[in-house]
Amino acid sequence: MQKRIFQRFRETPKESQMEMQNVLYEVRNRIAYVTVNRPKVLNALNDQTMEELKHIFLDIRHRSDALAAILTGAGEKAFIAGADINELATQTPIDGKDRSRRGQHILSIIESLGKPVVAAINGYALGGGCELAMACTVRLASDNAKLGQPEVKLGIMAGYGGTQRLVRLVGMGRALELLLSGEQISAQRAYEIGLVNAVFPQAELITQAENFIGKMLANGPIALKLTLEAAHRGMQMTLEEGLNLEASLFGLICTTEDMKEGTKAFLEKRSPQFKNR
Ligand code: COA
Repeated sequence: MQKRIFQRFRETPKESQMEMQNVLYEVRNRIAYVTVNRPKVLNALNDQTMEELKHIFLDIRHRSDALAAILTGAGEKAFIAGADINELATQTPIDGKDRSRRGQHILSIIESLGKPVVAAINGYALGGGCELAMACTVRLASDNAKLGQPEVKLGIMAGYGGTQRLVRLVGMGRALELLLSGEQISAQRAYEIGLVNAVFPQAELITQAENFIGKMLANGPIALKLTLEAAHRGMQMTLEEGLNLEASLFGLICTTEDMKEGTKAFLEKRSPQFKNR
């Protein structure tokens, strides 16, 4: 298995080195490619893998050469088939709560990254896999993908934010249908209920994810960051508070060089050159 020493963490200096065992990570052409790489167990998320994801996304948050990310799974069968059931099987109540809170925190890092993250769902996205995908900005699925929250079939419940994000994404009725039946749904059905944004043949998935990102990165990076912040923080607020947050961020963006450049370029009938300032 590929091993990498990872040395770029500004937030966690004491942990400035971490051996990457289960996640592949590289940055090319402004995009961070993050691939969960445990294909023998359908990329199940054990604690080590979650810790690696945390370190990688903290790194992406600060890297100026990575403006977006694609999260996917190794192999052709699975995106992520859930939390690793071997670890869940032996957990005490204290372990369970700690694991849930740690996982929720890591997904919140992804959700609040300030840069678009595309989940390229290339197969099973079950349990923690579906939850991880829901913490991403958008979800693209391959036509063979299957999504679901099967935890109840194991006598447990979703613990990485599934009971909260699924309701927000697809509405209470459809969310509870999935969360209480534990049934898997097809990529096409996930598209119909708004759980995924689009469905593509598997061979095209990463190219289509890059196309999605290309459209976003043609726009001002600060505009993307503040839009993500307004949408995600606004979800925790009343409408009035959310509108106030939006207006404050709108005022803030008026201080940027990119705002001047974007509006000037339109009036001069040319493409803007955004500088992330
Ligand atoms: N945790 C640990 N191991 C897992 C896993 C998980 N979440 N999901 C799959 N695996 C392992 C299987 O145990 C199997 O290991 P083995 O080869 O040593 O027997 C291997 O991955 C392949 O899975 P298998 O079940 O043989 O493949 P399949 O094509 O018959 O079924 C699934 C695929 C996804 C339907 C099935 O693996 C499954 O139901 N997984 C659990 C999904 C789940 O409940 N996730 C939520 C956990 S909270």
